[in-house]
Amino acid sequence: MSSQIDHLLDEGRRFAPSPAFAAQANGTSDLYKRAAADREEFWADQARDLLHWHTPFTQTLDWSNPPFAKWFDDGQLSVAYNCLDRHVEAGNGDRVAILFEGESGDERRITYAELTAEVKKAANMLESLGIGHGDRVAIYLPMIPEAAIAMLACARVGAIHSVVFGGFSADSLRSRVDDAAARLVITADGGYRKGRVSPLKPAVDMALADRGTGPQETVEHVVVVKRGGNDIDWTEGRDLWWHDMLEQADAEHEAQPFPAENPLYILYTSGTTGKPKGVVHTSGGYLTQAVFTNKYVLDIHPDSDVFWCTADIGWVTGHTYVVYGPLALGATQVMYEGTPDTPHPGRWWELIQKYGVSILYTAPTAIRSFMKQGRQIPQQFDLSSIRLLGSVGEPINPEAWIWYRDIIGGGEAPIVDTWWQTETGAAMIAALPGVTDAKPGAAQVPLPGISVDVVDETGHQVPNGKGGLLVLTEPWPAMLRGVWGDPERFKETYWEKFADQGYYFAGDGARKDEDSEIWLLGRVDDVMNVSGHRLSTTEIESALVAHESTAEAAVVGAKDDTTGEAVVAFVIIKESYLSAHSPEGLAGTLRQWVSQQIGAIARPRDIYIVSELPKTRSGKIMRRLLRDVADGREVGDTTTLADTAVMSIISAQVK
Ligand code: PRX
Repeated sequence: MSSQIDHLLDEGRRFAPSPAFAAQANGTSDLYKRAAADREEFWADQARDLLHWHTPFTQTLDWSNPPFAKWFDDGQLSVAYNCLDRHVEAGNGDRVAILFEGESGDERRITYAELTAEVKKAANMLESLGIGHGDRVAIYLPMIPEAAIAMLACARVGAIHSVVFGGFSADSLRSRVDDAAARLVITADGGYRKGRVSPLKPAVDMALADRGTGPQETVEHVVVVKRGGNDIDWTEGRDLWWHDMLEQADAEHEAQPFPAENPLYILYTSGTTGKPKGVVHTSGGYLTQAVFTNKYVLDIHPDSDVFWCTADIGWVTGHTYVVYGPLALGATQVMYEGTPDTPHPGRWWELIQKYGVSILYTAPTAIRSFMKQGRQIPQQFDLSSIRLLGSVGEPINPEAWIWYRDIIGGGEAPIVDTWWQTETGAAMIAALPGVTDAKPGAAQVPLPGISVDVVDETGHQVPNGKGGLLVLTEPWPAMLRGVWGDPERFKETYWEKFADQGYYFAGDGARKDEDSEIWLLGRVDDVMNVSGHRLSTTEIESALVAHESTAEAAVVGAKDDTTGEAVVAFVIIKESYLSAHSPEGLAGTLRQWVSQQIGAIARPRDIYIVSELPKTRSGKIMRRLLRDVADGREVGDTTTLADTAVMSIISAQVK
């Protein structure tokens, strides 16, 4: 790790924003001054300035019962009204909200007036199904406008949505539906991916199949958007077509205000145990920071920019930078259903040219895979509309950063590398593009009103240049309010490690450079980051050992040139299976199995069949040593192993 850090810190290039960019930027250095003068008042000003409040708040932050924060608690607002009606009322109903492009080339331009009308009907549909304040709705959809409409309709009636990424398996959907006790699932027959229709409804059917002696089914209805046109099974009485329901729904729906702390959504994310955590976000504080960062970090000017965040709505980036942030700001954005290389590898650049995208926000994995394909692909398109680039989800290596700026940004566009998490709700560490000199590879500085530090195991600040743990030292408006149904897990995961100081522990390693700017160094726990998506080693291990052939399994994140990290599994197979199957056959079966159990993103890149796993005397698997093997490094210190010979056996077996 340390040679990697030293290499990073050798990076000495700085890129100041051009005077022209700085002159038009929304964010100025004044924001830092105002936030430093009075942090809470700063956020109160932002909340008043950026949002419409049905009932203005008089209290800013209530931190009397940490770690349970309340922001703007006595205020009332409607998240949906802020994202929709208010733009129409302000005379911007004809502005395009969503420029939708299907994978197969179908287009829809949806104005704010049209989007508002659709959400009103969808809200009436929800109410006709008895869904209202506090009910949970699972959303399992492709990247189509109905995803945003469904989310906003939930917000409009005060229901809590739980979006489940369409790439997750029936089992993953089932566990999320159960944990939240969802009453409704909104899905589609299928969506387009990689040139084909990829069915979704069968996974819902499987997830909701007869529960036998299991828990009581909470789901009363499944609303199905017709998208793929694929044949699907239909359960009479339970399943309903979205288009039928909307056709029958009343067109008028007045947005009700809800308290600022009304839960807006649950989003499940992997932790260090096998069970994903339902991260809970509420309304007023979340929306404030969502709009704040879209305006000042991504520098969106709603009347002139075309924004494109490439994230799927199944991830938090899709919540904050596709749905809530850009829409509350009144921005125009591109939404694309498919994969970047369908039907040709220049698809993204073609869309940028077609729609005149001016701000692109994407993940380093995508940038690295484009780099591999070569600059000649983007160079076939006119990308001159691009004026700002954003990066999110994983550390961006300086080489990819420079390529991004030169090839996609015309050698001029500032890049904002934004560090944040599902739990933080919105960007926390990032440059202000008109103010900060950009440094390739660093997330750089906490945003105005955000307090960050790098500390040692005891919570003491480490000097610049030394690695440590990233903490957030003060509450922030978009912070998670808890883990659904599990306050103990919330405290334990994020707040216990630095309970004396009252810091939030992010689970990331970091280091400050000589300018006190922050470089992220990856996770310090058993969480991997594959293509910017969080996966838990334990969750994949549980899936592997659930297969009848597996006796034991250990999973690590190994370095990968494209995806940042890749899943590598070491598996001990039961004797009876070993004799009857080839190692290649078993590895293939297990890869497929993990994909079915969790989803394709969790499928291990490599599976090594071994006879032993390295364990300490207390039986804990030493993943550090397995990571050395997976990365092809010399194996580190083995003295704490119960059996020190184990690593040479494993090394020989994986060759
Ligand atoms: O390790 C950090 C990494 O992604 C984790 C959060 O993952 P998730 O909750 O899925 O949210 C991803 C989208 C915000 C963090 O703990 N991470 C996120 N952004 C960056 C990053 N690592 C380095 N640089 C970033 N810009």
